Amino acid sequence: MYRLVCVHCAATYAPDQIIYTCKHCGHLLTVEYDLDGIDVSRDEWDRRPLSVWRYREILPVQGEPVSLQEGGTPLYHLEKIGKELGLPELYAKHEGMNPTGSFKDRGMTVGVSMARQLGMTSVACASTGNTSASLAAYAAKASIPCVVLLPAGKVALGKVAQALMHGARVISIRGNFDRALEMVHELCISHGLYLLNSVNPYRLEGQKTIGFEAIDQLGDVPDRIVLPVGNAGNISAVYKGLRELEALGFIDRLPMMTGIQAAGSQPVVKAIEQNLDELVPEPAPETVATAIRIGAPVNAEKALVAIRATGGTAAAVTDDEILRMQQDLARMEGIGVEPASAASVAGIRKLAEQGLIDKDERIVCVVTGHLLKDPETVVQQCEPPIEIDADLHSLLSALR
Ligand code: F0G
Repeated sequence: MYRLVCVHCAATYAPDQIIYTCKHCGHLLTVEYDLDGIDVSRDEWDRRPLSVWRYREILPVQGEPVSLQEGGTPLYHLEKIGKELGLPELYAKHEGMNPTGSFKDRGMTVGVSMARQLGMTSVACASTGNTSASLAAYAAKASIPCVVLLPAGKVALGKVAQALMHGARVISIRGNFDRALEMVHELCISHGLYLLNSVNPYRLEGQKTIGFEAIDQLGDVPDRIVLPVGNAGNISAVYKGLRELEALGFIDRLPMMTGIQAAGSQPVVKAIEQNLDELVPEPAPETVATAIRIGAPVNAEKALVAIRATGGTAAAVTDDEILRMQQDLARMEGIGVEPASAASVAGIRKLAEQGLIDKDERIVCVVTGHLLKDPETVVQQCEPPIEIDADLHSLLSALR
């Protein structure tokens, strides 16, 4: 019912081949379904709970998945922030409400299920944190050993804690994420571990369900979907999924795909702004949003197509803009997200202030990870609690 296809030269591969890049041209692969042969209806989907697995006919997993009940995340109306920006139809899809606190769980339920389906006995990834936390949990659920490579000193505490507690072999390398990904790719090819970064075409299949759920929750196709961009897998995955819905005849238009990067790590934004065919890697990416501290996004080729083909755009936000929006989401809307996640909404604020957003647009910002992922950044921004003696008088003077 599906096969692997090179995104560049269209070479095809059997679905059970353990392969991440095209043998002919070295570009990434994607999963292509025989959509004409798929028997599914919107009504049938609507009868199922909102979840990654509502959409199982266009996912590659056969049989019972390795699941921790991922997906079905809330879509919040950002009433106050929307009002401030003059955007009455501004929404946030809170992917931090997944089992391990990020959207990666959508990818890992599919990716680890495929590892099992393909007979793989160990899994690995490089990560800025969330991928490793998620893979560690799903590998634990599947009883498969797991290795994760992290850029030393640049991963938020909550994410390292998760990877360690779920029992992964956690290795910190003296280098950045881009180097960690090269290394783990080599390790997987030479030693037969299953690579579950976003170069893995099956993992991204799970992530495309963010777009499906947003449409089902809104009851319509949003005009724009906004995502923080790191390795550019997620924006590519959501776009791919929406193209499939269109081909199935379930939707008749696509949202403008909009990617937001941190100012210190913005190769995709530069490629869009300068109309480049290929991106120029950023050798020393830096941002407080460590999740998206990535200079050479491997999925850039697909992301550029997603943005251009839908009339979308890309924009960069400074660390200050990211942190301000993290606070605004927390204090005005009650939504706790990590810095990278606030980037999507900060990007909309910036684009709106520049007059680049139509006021009538229905906009879904994907907020990708939970506030608790990165407590250190919170502590650096907020006044610490005041410590007092345990009596009412002290309490009243502290509150004055
Ligand atoms: N937001 C968060 C919270 C992330 O953790 C990531 C990526 C992104 C956005 C960007 O998604 O890479 O698909 O463009 N985190 C990866 C990781 C790289 O290792 O956890 P992308």
